Amino acid sequence: MTSAILGTGKCLPKKIVTNDDLSQIVDTNDAWIRERTGIQTRHLATSETTETLSIEAAKQALEAAQIAPENLGLIIVATLTPDGSMPNTACKVQAAIGAKNAMCYEINAACSGFIYGLQTAHAFISSGILSYALIIGAETLSKIMDWKDRSTCVLFGDGAGAAVLGASEKGIICLDGGADGSKGGVLTCGNAPLCNPYTKHPASNPYVEMDGQEVFKFAVRKIPAIVNNLLEKTDHTIDDLSCILLHQANQRIIQSAAKRLHADLDIFPMNLDKYGNTSAASVAILLDEVARSGKLSKGDLIALAGFGGGLTWAGLLLEWV
Ligand code: ACO
Repeated sequence: MTSAILGTGKCLPKKIVTNDDLSQIVDTNDAWIRERTGIQTRHLATSETTETLSIEAAKQALEAAQIAPENLGLIIVATLTPDGSMPNTACKVQAAIGAKNAMCYEINAACSGFIYGLQTAHAFISSGILSYALIIGAETLSKIMDWKDRSTCVLFGDGAGAAVLGASEKGIICLDGGADGSKGGVLTCGNAPLCNPYTKHPASNPYVEMDGQEVFKFAVRKIPAIVNNLLEKTDHTIDDLSCILLHQANQRIIQSAAKRLHADLDIFPMNLDKYGNTSAASVAILLDEVARSGKLSKGDLIALAGFGGGLTWAGLLLEWV
């Protein structure tokens, strides 16, 4: 017994912000952003929250899967931008959709979070502990951007994607992933400092800081390694894959991965031009768009791969059902 993706959903905030819009806020321009990243627009939350985006994506995924919320044994929300620390976002989703039989928690593995979430749910389902799980990747990254820092604020966007996993004869075939905490300093975001009557610490930067070139080097090495590991472990070759869904951070990273894998760029669907980098939501949103495009057929072999802060990375090989 394995687990399979039975339905997907997504939700993007209504407000669309172009590169030209951003050039009114920071010293940047459309040409720089397009050439260095491929990003043209991003959606930014104005009234939406990580909770509301998650709930809408979840409802769509359940409807597509035709699974009643009471059948869910687990809800995982992958996010690094919850609206608060407690209750966790998964509990808020549970309450909104009426999934009264589900365990609920968040995973923070930055941009690898959605795939980590799928892997965790797969472990529960394939071991027979539960039958259905809802995994959501959701972010409102705009609230942790330093809107004076042009090197980061142009890259990210807000949104959510979701998938229902269910017990199945065919589906997920292989997992890959890991982390290297020793390199965590290249992509950081602080939080409230330790502060009580007995101690006081200087506040850390509450905004995203990134050594873009180090992250770039990490990504272009790690993505091909994840995909090759998945293929080697299952005796497949790159030609067996119908598509490879990568974390949508930068078009140049995806082009480099295609080159290193000797794969046609056409098998790497992209939507970062529209949404920017939505961290934990990115692979989830892309999966929903590809699933709804009608381009996938039963039996197609698909790889998912992500990388992000931590540093973390994760991959999945699955057969579409
Ligand atoms: N507009 C105009 N100029 C800019 C901007 C901007 N938005 N941002 C930086 N610049 C300038 C810099 O100041 C620098 O100017 P200088 O040469 O006068 O000093 C110049 O452009 C080049 O800057 P670099 O940082 O060297 O540009 P680079 O080619 O490395 O591109 C980028 C930067 C796009 C961030 C790239 O390094 C990258 O994509 N890295 C990977 C980032 C990534 O994937 N992050 C997310 C992964 S993890 C996650 O998703 C949470």
